[in-house]
Amino acid sequence: MTRRVYIFDTTLRDGEQSPGVSLNAGEKLQIARQLARLGVDVIEAGFPIASQGDFEAVQAIAREVRGVTVAGLARAGFADIDRAWEALRDAEQPRIHTFIATSPIHMQHKLRMDPEQVIEAAVAAVKRAKSYVSDVEFSAEDASRSELDFLCRVLEAAIAAGATVVNIPDTVGYATPQEFAQFIREILSLVRGIEKVVVSVHCHDDLGLAVANSLAAVAAGATQVEGAINGIGERAGNAAIEEVVMALFTRRDQYGCTTGIRTEEIYRTSRLVANLTGMPIQPNKAVVGKNAFAHESGIHQDGVLKERTTYEIMNPTMVGISQSNLVLGKHSGRHAFRQRLAELGYELNDQELNKAFQRFKTLADKKKEITDADLEAIVEDELRPV
Ligand code: KIV
Ligand code: ZN
Repeated sequence: MTRRVYIFDTTLRDGEQSPGVSLNAGEKLQIARQLARLGVDVIEAGFPIASQGDFEAVQAIAREVRGVTVAGLARAGFADIDRAWEALRDAEQPRIHTFIATSPIHMQHKLRMDPEQVIEAAVAAVKRAKSYVSDVEFSAEDASRSELDFLCRVLEAAIAAGATVVNIPDTVGYATPQEFAQFIREILSLVRGIEKVVVSVHCHDDLGLAVANSLAAVAAGATQVEGAINGIGERAGNAAIEEVVMALFTRRDQYGCTTGIRTEEIYRTSRLVANLTGMPIQPNKAVVGKNAFAHESGIHQDGVLKERTTYEIMNPTMVGISQSNLVLGKHSGRHAFRQRLAELGYELNDQELNKAFQRFKTLADKKKEITDADLEAIVEDELRPV
């Protein structure tokens, strides 16, 4: 029997915490619309109390984007939760996501609270959030370095207070797959009431294990995976959603899970996020990198030409990488030009498109074949002139 795994996207919250990244409300809205098209179950739109800009972006997304849950982050305090609710109140499906740390190291040095105070704060936060919305997610920050017995007590108390989702973050990317899977299995068997709620994981990539840990957790019974497009996020980033989704799909024989993701929208989403955040995608990045479906050696090229599956475990069209041999040159029209730009993640208004198209025609007169890199240079120059 196939199990549905929910995809919680935090590109606009944890992803935006990538050093050097700052998105304005318009850019966030553009990404949120594309995430809805991609079919994620939850968009974490921001951290409303963090700044007026974040508040407004969450509010704009909550007001406009439909067919998806919109979440806002809040620490376990009433001011944060009230602010999150204010930003989310017009959402079709609002979720308040509240969190507090549960590891000894965080409780002692960061929160300066004892374990009983942490439980009290968690319960009060969930109850406050529940007074506004039916859908409340509770995260035990630094869960993977928390003591199991204590963590189970906190999660049990949060569920009894009304949490509908409990999230087990590997906040500092310290876990390893076998250990994390075992941790999830223990939580599932020890926490009373856990069968009534969604069990989520949120893995960071400090040791390059975020995707592996997320998949191990799913195999152990987790039902929601949190991550960001292109794996962006705090420090080394979050689990890359496109990798988690394509692993669950490609190896469905092993995981037996489905997601609601429209995989053909993956490439476009990835490009849009890269373009707007200014965080380029490494060429050898799995699933969406420039080389992910490129074959260099003669032996590989020969194999792929004879039968694609010799060296390709996914069909590039599945993730929205066009296989059409549409070569752009001086005879190409505006329609093909716009279409290719959309595939590369650019949505231009008519004025921008006209200007970019003129530049393209001028270049095409000098150069026989226009590459994606040429197109990117043209558009970047038009949209972000120095
Ligand atoms: O990494 C983390 O623990 C977080 C929480 C706020 C969920 O981002
Ligand atoms: Zn995080």
